Amino acid sequence: QWTTSSIVDEQVTRIAEQIGDGRAICGLSGGVDSAVAAALVQRAIGERLTCVFVDHGLLRAGERTQVEQDFVAATGVNLVTIDARERFLGALAGVTDPEQKRKIIGREFIRVFEQAERDLKAQGDYKFLVQGTLYPDVVESGGGEGTANIKSHHNVGGLPDDLQFELVEPLRLLFKDEVRRVGLELGLPETIVQRQPFPGPGLGIRIIGEVTADRLETLRAADAVAREELTSAGLDREIWQCPVVLLADVRSVGVQGDGRTYGHPIVLRPVSSEDAMTADWTRLPYEVLERISTRITNEVPEVNRVVLDVTSKPPGTIEWE
Ligand code: XMP
Repeated sequence: QWTTSSIVDEQVTRIAEQIGDGRAICGLSGGVDSAVAAALVQRAIGERLTCVFVDHGLLRAGERTQVEQDFVAATGVNLVTIDARERFLGALAGVTDPEQKRKIIGREFIRVFEQAERDLKAQGDYKFLVQGTLYPDVVESGGGEGTANIKSHHNVGGLPDDLQFELVEPLRLLFKDEVRRVGLELGLPETIVQRQPFPGPGLGIRIIGEVTADRLETLRAADAVAREELTSAGLDREIWQCPVVLLADVRSVGVQGDGRTYGHPIVLRPVSSEDAMTADWTRLPYEVLERISTRITNEVPEVNRVVLDVTSKPPGTIEWE
């Protein structure tokens, strides 16, 4: 019988044993998993943990500030922010294959952490890398026995062979709902703990086609509208997450004002789920869909069509890539 506090105690003990008197770096993504993993490790080794937040340019509107302000206010953790936007965009230039994108993003994350480790050398050696890998990430990246590789989650299948860190993954046996309970037990605020999942590779896997700065800007604007409307309709708890996807290589003809448009479609992918292993598409109220559609097509010039994904998982996955 596992209670939340026994999970916390057991993990804190294990982490303390694994790291000993060493130091660890934890990559924060802004999401629940890395935040809870960091808070657990902080409880085990305190000041010897440094969190690194990589701004890879694939973030949604407001995410960087949320990490820099909310998470630090709640935990008092040491945080270093690294601006790696150019590096990631450069590495992704010309790439359209989803698995290749995931592997590149995973690799670049690690390279940035290695650089951070060198920059932090003055304080001591950082040999450990903390990741908020969950059980479903391990299974879906083919880490469990007899499982197929469906997607390489950036923090599992995307790791380079010559990794210079020893991994610390305190959530590796947990599902999301357990992680949320652990987060609350550790005193993290609801705004972090109840956040909907957002994938580490960010908007990079929500642009179908090549990732470019302009396309990111388009998607970020559409995503911000959808999130704003879903939140103001009070639907955040009911929806597990709602990926907003830009079909960057598709164009369709439209009409706006008195002119022809030839723009891109945005896909809304609202899903309901318990653990992301399976999911159902969420039956959103028509008025909410209408508001999102009207606002996106009015406010985001490159988008002239909004479509709704009505596929369950399986057969669709939650993300499009
Ligand atoms: P899929 O698309 O496989 O997604 O049905 C299942 C859940 O995992 C999230 N996801 C990721 N999270 N790194 C992450 O941290 C990743 O590479 C990744 N890929 C998918 C996805 O948002 C959903 O919640």
